[in-house]
Amino acid sequence: LATVYVCLCLALTDRDVSQAIQQGAGTFRAVAARCGAGTVCGGCRPAIGALLGTMSDGASDDIAPVVQMRGARRRERG
Ligand code: FES
Repeated sequence: LATVYVCLCLALTDRDVSQAIQQGAGTFRAVAARCGAGTVCGGCRPAIGALLGTMSDGASDDIAPVVQMRGARRRERG
């Protein structure tokens, strides 16, 4: 599989984030603390949440408000 950038602000790839999750980061905050992903513009938080969702037991609840906010904004425009 190709390596893709998850966090453009810090040039972190899906491998960097996956490694953080494999090392025990089970929530968005834990991933951010380990590798810094999501701590600058926050634009990569949904992608981090998706990685957490596929790799952990769904302990990524603390990312939900960000995703919900974006969905709400989109609905307002449409
Ligand atoms: S893209 Fe990850 S913090 Fe900006």
